[in-house]
Amino acid sequence: MLIVTPLFLSISMQVYGISKPMEYVTEARRQQEQEDIEEEMAVPLPRSITGPKLKAFEGDIESIQFKKLLSSDDDEHSRDDQIPHSRVFRVSIEGKTFSLKIFNFFTIQQLRPDVFGKEHLLKDNIVRHQLDPFYAECRAFGLLVEKERDDELAVRCHGYVFLSDALERQIEHQFGIRDWNRKAEHESSQLRAIVKDYIVWKSLRHRKSFEAMRNNLKELNKLGIYNMDVREANYLGGRLFDFSIAITFPHISLWPKLWSVQQILNDKATDLGCFDSMVERVRKREESERVLPPRKKQRTRPVTRSQKSKVLAAGI
Ligand SMILES: Nc1ncnc2c1ncn2[C@@H]1O[C@H](COP(=O)(O)OP(=O)(O)OP(=O)(O)O)[C@@H](O)[C@H]1O
Ligand SMILES: [Mg+2]
Repeated sequence: MLIVTPLFLSISMQVYGISKPMEYVTEARRQQEQEDIEEEMAVPLPRSITGPKLKAFEGDIESIQFKKLLSSDDDEHSRDDQIPHSRVFRVSIEGKTFSLKIFNFFTIQQLRPDVFGKEHLLKDNIVRHQLDPFYAECRAFGLLVEKERDDELAVRCHGYVFLSDALERQIEHQFGIRDWNRKAEHESSQLRAIVKDYIVWKSLRHRKSFEAMRNNLKELNKLGIYNMDVREANYLGGRLFDFSIAITFPHISLWPKLWSVQQILNDKATDLGCFDSMVERVRKREESERVLPPRKKQRTRPVTRSQKSKVLAAGI
């Protein structure tokens, strides 16, 4: 079927030498450009980038109330001076509680992987839209939501959202946070975030069996999502929730022109390998806790004011 758009008409008229008023060409082009911009704003992954696309959050983001900063800046900065991927907040939107993960910005230099002499094969826009933590997480949850398996295999995801300047100022005012690693190339970009269910349980507490969790990971891999960061800290209530370095097919990390078959197979086996090591560590820890039950804490200091004065009076 031939879809006749104003741009198509304008091009075909030029090709066939049909003359038309100049304003018409300019207007058609302007309209097309406007549509392109709107499309870029409407989906986080531009149409030219293949792969799953997360939908926009449909709630009223302007009604948001920031309740608590969940991620700890200190922990993140201690990791070899790496730029943290995000800050995560417990928020309330239209009276419901969510977690809101707001992503830092990254320059193309910070994102480009070492591909040893094959740099020319890597286009900047592909690198950005696959490796930037915001887009990496959008791709993974985009596929999970599309397959309606986000709640089963990870955590329910409600979409991406761009934050207005006013909300960015609100975060600064409330939490003193204003560094989002914004460089010149991001000056006009709004903060980007992903809305997920808030998980009450910590790490592996209240989890399903390790066998069920492993099967979920296998299912995730079968869909073409490789989390690449499987560790206790990325599980809450036994749910994997952090996909900021995930590889979601199609992806440059799985491209045989860049990597050997063995490297790709290794990447694909990473999640289950890390999961098995994690389980081994947890089992050893639980075992040692069973053998040596934690000693009752001895009070070394008075705990109340009256105890303190008794201690002082006795000259201890
Ligand atoms: N859905 C959620 N419910 C409750 N707490 C959450 C949720 N998502 C994230 N958090 C909290 O925020 C912290 C950081 O989240 P997340 O791991 O997604 O961010 P990150 O920037 O990728 O961090 P890192 O790189 O350190 O793994 C988590 O350790 C957890 O404490
Ligand atoms: Mg994490």
